[in-house]
Amino acid sequence: MYCVFTIMPIYGTRPEAIKMAPIVKVLQDSAQFRCVVTVTGQHREMLDQVNEIFDITPDHDLNIIQPRQTLNGVLTRTVEGLDAIFAENAPDAVVVQGDTTTSTAGAIAAFYRGIPVIHAEAGLRSFNLFSPFPEEANRKITSQITSLHLAPTSTSRENLLREALPEQDIVVTGNTVIDALLHTVERQLPFSDPQLEEIGASGRRVLLVTTHRRENQGKAMRGVGRALARIAEAEPELAIVLPAHRNPVVREAVLPAIEGKSNVVVTEPLAYGEFTRMLSVAHVVLTDSGGVQEEAPSLGKPVLVMRENTERPEAVTAGTVKLIGTDEERIVTEVDRLLNDAAAYRQMANAVNPYGDGRAAQRSLAAIEQMFGVGTRIADFDPRD
Ligand code: UD1
Ligand code: UDP
Repeated sequence: MYCVFTIMPIYGTRPEAIKMAPIVKVLQDSAQFRCVVTVTGQHREMLDQVNEIFDITPDHDLNIIQPRQTLNGVLTRTVEGLDAIFAENAPDAVVVQGDTTTSTAGAIAAFYRGIPVIHAEAGLRSFNLFSPFPEEANRKITSQITSLHLAPTSTSRENLLREALPEQDIVVTGNTVIDALLHTVERQLPFSDPQLEEIGASGRRVLLVTTHRRENQGKAMRGVGRALARIAEAEPELAIVLPAHRNPVVREAVLPAIEGKSNVVVTEPLAYGEFTRMLSVAHVVLTDSGGVQEEAPSLGKPVLVMRENTERPEAVTAGTVKLIGTDEERIVTEVDRLLNDAAAYRQMANAVNPYGDGRAAQRSLAAIEQMFGVGTRIADFDPRD
């Protein structure tokens, strides 16, 4: 008898939604699988924005978000909500992505029900349990209870092997963020904000900034705000574009210092199409985001990362990403160098693709097919190919 397996992608935040979308699409197109999309709603507007742009309508939505939510609150509401959905649906496997609390809670809830876990973006490690917090711990916990590890790069595969995870359960797929990026940039979606349209058309140099990391909240983020204010004053021709995270804790820290600066444009979170368009317009990117660190190098944009370490060393090695921490003085100096030293800029502004080639979702699908005995894997991602 012909058998269709039920696979349940589970996600809850913006970056998971972006990176899960290519996997949802290939599962929906596959005759072997029934794809049941479940979102936790750890994020709301920022999650819905992504589902909309990729035309994904979740089958289940736990809607767990609360203002200023705690990690334990997200964890418990997710596990409880998913348990009820598993009782009704009995999926043959779940797919979780990355290192958020939704991701690890989803893995735990599935594991406790005896449902195999497939982990996309497996094997990233910063080797510091407290940075990023709690993501480094989340990834390590998820790896221990995962049946199929979809590792984005050979480095992440090696990290998993070093933790004695079974070699046959690891496949190097590339990161699906590059699938999403290539697909979206190609669509050339317009800016809905006239200020951004004007900046894009003006040819002015743009410093694109994002910040949200928990370990940077408070003192470090206030310093980021002050650094941006100083850069804005020193470089009146520069446009600083800051799509602000919805987290009120982030806004309270960063925004006061830059309020009223005429060359700083603070926006709501941009829809993915608009954000990737702004990335391609930007001259320099300043961020503490994980996903942005992966996307910008493939568009040839220098990235200054406001963190002390990274679980994404590949673009640092390639020279397009530089770790600069969160010290106010250092941020001002590093941005100034890229704006005013052409040789330093040229050295970093190379298009490199260490994170993927746009076929990560296909490789993930093939690995899942093999897991269920209905297909075979395709060759691992290798950026040298
Ligand atoms: C979470 C993830 C982090 C990821 C980031 C992506 C964990 C532990 N952290 O950050 O890994 O990099 O998301 O952005 O899972 N809010 C809204 N609307 C939204 C989204 C957020 O109002 O659409 C507000 C809410 O007040 C919410 C707060 O932002 O309580 C924080 O959201 P949360 O997902 O808890 O943020 P982080 O854990 O910092
Ligand atoms: N992004 C977006 N709109 C924005 C800012 C970011 O669509 O206004 C996208 C970005 O392209 C990347 C992802 O959101 O793919 C990164 O999300 P975030 O920085 O919130 O989380 P992280 O990647 O650090 O977990």
